[in-house]
Amino acid sequence: MAGSGLVNAQVETVVDLDAIAHNMRILRAHAGDAAVMAVVKADGYNHGAVEVGRAALAAGAAGLGVTTVGEGLALRRAGITAPILCWLNNSDADFAAAVAADIEIGVSSLSHLRAVERAARTAGGPATVSLKVDTGLNRNGIAPTEYPVVLAALEPLVRAGTLRLRAIFSHLAHADEPEHPFLDVQRDRFLTAIATAKTHGLEPELVHLANSAATLTRPDLVFDMVRPGIAMYGLSPVADDFGLRPAMTLQAQVALVKRVAAGEGVSYGHQWTAPRDTTVALIPAGYADGVFRPLSNRFEVWLGGARRRNIGRVCMDQFVVDLGDNAAGVTEGDTAVLFGPEGPHPQEWADLLDTIHYEVVCAPKGRVVRRHTGTAPRL
Ligand SMILES: Cc1ncc(COP(=O)(O)O)c(C=O)c1O
Repeated sequence: MAGSGLVNAQVETVVDLDAIAHNMRILRAHAGDAAVMAVVKADGYNHGAVEVGRAALAAGAAGLGVTTVGEGLALRRAGITAPILCWLNNSDADFAAAVAADIEIGVSSLSHLRAVERAARTAGGPATVSLKVDTGLNRNGIAPTEYPVVLAALEPLVRAGTLRLRAIFSHLAHADEPEHPFLDVQRDRFLTAIATAKTHGLEPELVHLANSAATLTRPDLVFDMVRPGIAMYGLSPVADDFGLRPAMTLQAQVALVKRVAAGEGVSYGHQWTAPRDTTVALIPAGYADGVFRPLSNRFEVWLGGARRRNIGRVCMDQFVVDLGDNAAGVTEGDTAVLFGPEGPHPQEWADLLDTIHYEVVCAPKGRVVRRHTGTAPRL
């Protein structure tokens, strides 16, 4: 299981916390005077939320962003005391636990607001909320039609001290296209939403809009705080890499090296037939571990000082690479890098799979064991 701490894993992700710290410093430089919230949802984009969160905070992040109350509580249980915002919960989430743990709750509807109000009354203390306004992503966030109703309901609760309004924030639809005109539309709608809150007597402590892409490319959208995720993990959401360092390596130990005779087929369905006598290496990682089956016959690993091509189908637990005459002398136990700073970039998988590198780093699962390295301070 990822993160289970097993030793001698056949397949592992190695997460370099020095890279996280380095990337955080780059993001802070782009943020200027704005604070940086490190987004560690989805277990830190599969890098380990607790370890990444600590590294990010030690490198100057002001707080952490997650999706659910449960993710926030897990960070608190690990001893993280920094501000935490969670922004996507159903109305029946355990908001009382969030209030008790001082986790800020992103509100996306009147129903959420009422649920948080009930939790604050149960907990007997104020709940900290942020309004997530929908400025055109049309996904999570308060719909424009509901926004005035939410503001009207919120104002007396803030005045009575039942709720504390920490922030108004929103999320961008086209941040990875820095020239896209809709960025300006969302900025203007965001400013209008802030002004409308003020007409209801509501003054947030801060406002924030930018994810990684906007932090790196649109200084006009930085506001009081930025919320980068993917760039902190070292993957750029746009063409320029800004000197970011990918933090994750996916690697496996060669399970077997053997000869295959010319004319023999390899793996299920014999999708590849040896054109000559050759040597192959068996890599004990498959689609159950996050190596997507559509990569079959199309991707390469770094092994024995060179790139080696996958031959035949990726199976549930294994795939095969061609070593040719194996002049490098690859043997059982050698390390094959599937992606990472020393091997193919996750973007190569993304290109082959018609997806984004976000999904690639989120893919390792199942038997993959996670390990953290680096000497950067960790709070
Ligand atoms: C509300 C919100 N803010 C910030 C982020 C971070 O985005 P990115 O990883 O593109 O920086 C996300 C991720 O999807 C998000 O949902």
